[in-house]
Amino acid sequence: MRRFTVKVQLPDGTVHTFEAGSDVYILDAARLAGTELPSLCERGWCLTCAVRVLEGEVDQSDSLRYYPEDREAGFALICTGKARSDLCLLAGQTAAMRENRDRHGLPAPRGT
Ligand code: FES
Repeated sequence: MRRFTVKVQLPDGTVHTFEAGSDVYILDAARLAGTELPSLCERGWCLTCAVRVLEGEVDQSDSLRYYPEDREAGFALICTGKARSDLCLLAGQTAAMRENRDRHGLPAPRGT
């Protein structure tokens, strides 16, 4: 297992920094470090945990729904995403990720 440094900027501007192993979901690594981030389904479906990836690479192979268009637009689902490098993330991107899905005619769950 490799370990990476993850920086997450919250909507209020605060930045939380924690370590994440390559075999641990980023959301779980945040929790272990005492950082609570929004989540609901925790299966890579509802978009509640959406972040924008400002720097680095996230493995989304465990997410139920994650499309190339999500990655191209810079979005990640941290409930089922694993770090593949050091990361800089911007939290609170659910609405923006839904809009991107809508633009591409892809499923964008609501009511979450
Ligand atoms: S919590 Fe539902 S997609 Fe991450």
